Amino acid sequence: MGTTTKKSSKIRRMTAADIPLVITLTKDLFKDEWSQETWLTEVNNSISCYTVLELNEQIIVYAGDWLVAGEAQVVRVAVASKFQGQGLGDLLVADMIERAMDEGALAMSLEVRESNKPARKVYEKNGFVESGIRPNYYQDDHENAVIMWLQTEQG
Ligand SMILES: CC(C)(COP(=O)(O)OP(=O)(O)OC[C@H]1O[C@@H](n2cnc3c(N)ncnc32)[C@H](O)[C@@H]1OP(=O)(O)O)[C@@H](O)C(=O)NCCC(=O)NCCS
Repeated sequence: MGTTTKKSSKIRRMTAADIPLVITLTKDLFKDEWSQETWLTEVNNSISCYTVLELNEQIIVYAGDWLVAGEAQVVRVAVASKFQGQGLGDLLVADMIERAMDEGALAMSLEVRESNKPARKVYEKNGFVESGIRPNYYQDDHENAVIMWLQTEQG
């Protein structure tokens, strides 16, 4: 990945020290926001990589994936509410794909709520293609998940 700088923003790997701020910034965005313990496990997991985008030294966006046997599974992408719609989700997803490919991903996949138009648009813009539906995938409200795949040039 490396540290990427674009305009006044910086993308870098998430550390355990970032967890409280990550939780605060995105706690309204997910019905099942993770606890401090879950985040710590994720950040320390050798197959996962979470990145954050800092603007003026504030974390406002994060993205993460698990890489196993050449396949990267996108876990979460989130942009703090007041910064949505400015292309930052797009920027971090593009960076996540580039980093996963650098680390040997041949393909990437994800599930996204059928109703989540902004997320589906961001993934589509970055080359993900819808390939099916998992009916009743989400436990809280039984919403369907859309399955999306990205094949890299090597894959
Ligand atoms: C999904 C999410 C990460 C997108 O990030 P973002 O920074 O707001 O998105 P961007 O500004 O990069 O927009 C990307 C594209 O989506 C489009 N978009 C944004 N909101 C939209 C909406 N409500 N409906 C349709 N398209 C939308 C934008 O127009 C843009 O496309 P364009 O460049 O062709 O105009 C952000 O909305 C978010 O954090 N949502 C809550 C958490 C979540 O659902 N995460 C994804 C599942 S893990």
